[in-house]
Amino acid sequence: MAKITPLHQNVKLLVAVTSDNHIDIKHPIPALPMWYLTQSLKDAQDSAHPVDVYLTVGDTTSRGSETNWLLAQKCFRRARPAKHVFLTVGNHDLWNDDGYEKAEKNYLRFSNAICGTQHDKTWFSHTVNGYKLIFLGNTEDAGCEAHLGEEQLKWLSAELDAANGAPAFVFCHQSLNGRHGLPRTWDRSGTATDPMEGGIGTESDTVAAILKAHKNVFYFSGHSHMGLCGEARKAAEGYSSFEEEDGVVLVNLPSLACGNHHGDDRSMGIGVVIEVYEDRVAIRPRNFAHHAMNRKVAIKDGKPYFEKELG
Ligand SMILES: [Fe+2]
Repeated sequence: MAKITPLHQNVKLLVAVTSDNHIDIKHPIPALPMWYLTQSLKDAQDSAHPVDVYLTVGDTTSRGSETNWLLAQKCFRRARPAKHVFLTVGNHDLWNDDGYEKAEKNYLRFSNAICGTQHDKTWFSHTVNGYKLIFLGNTEDAGCEAHLGEEQLKWLSAELDAANGAPAFVFCHQSLNGRHGLPRTWDRSGTATDPMEGGIGTESDTVAAILKAHKNVFYFSGHSHMGLCGEARKAAEGYSSFEEEDGVVLVNLPSLACGNHHGDDRSMGIGVVIEVYEDRVAIRPRNFAHHAMNRKVAIKDGKPYFEKELG
């Protein structure tokens, strides 16, 4: 057990990230995902260096009902994980027995209450310690896929322009199509063959082109509940949780509390810590429930984390 401790001196931004927390009153043991979420919040709170941002990459709830959001809110009241808290919207947050509009209203109401924000859309950005954090979100019901729309895509491009080459961090529940082993890593059976399955969907190529037109972009997704995969999986199967493509870094997070498949470490409780320095960015998998950094999976160059010097 060890507190979150940055790799190097003079960290400029420290972010704790989890995804697919799936707080759910219909879970066989609702207290279980709540325990994992609470552990991650307390782990960030107890960090050896103050965490600037705690954020999720979507599916904070399974079905965005008021009951589930109230349970999530209860967890967030148990700790003060960071100066800032932000919740990316996920497809499960937007699924509700009362329809999409009600689910979106619940997401905005509760994420604003939890985070102390005043967002009126599922997509927004914040600049923390000089670094852009950009959150993408659906604008209509799109099933498992994303639907961002022209206005949001133009805005994404403008936001990345405004970062002006400084490292910028984009959070979207769905990964780009076909990355991180998709579509076969989409579910436990590994039988999906539709190239769009498990990814953004029809807007994937447009999002990829926008990301690649900018320097030092880091894109984070969740959604597939793939366990933590590193360079051995990349060599054997051609995919990893950490991929690089035309200068863009793509990171896919395991589910914090809903079970994982296809991974070299399928434990629950896993997320990542982002550490931004003047000349580099480190992204380090952490088991927030065990209060320990990853030691099981080699991520890059034999090290148990990803590190990239800024161009
Ligand atoms: Fe999920």
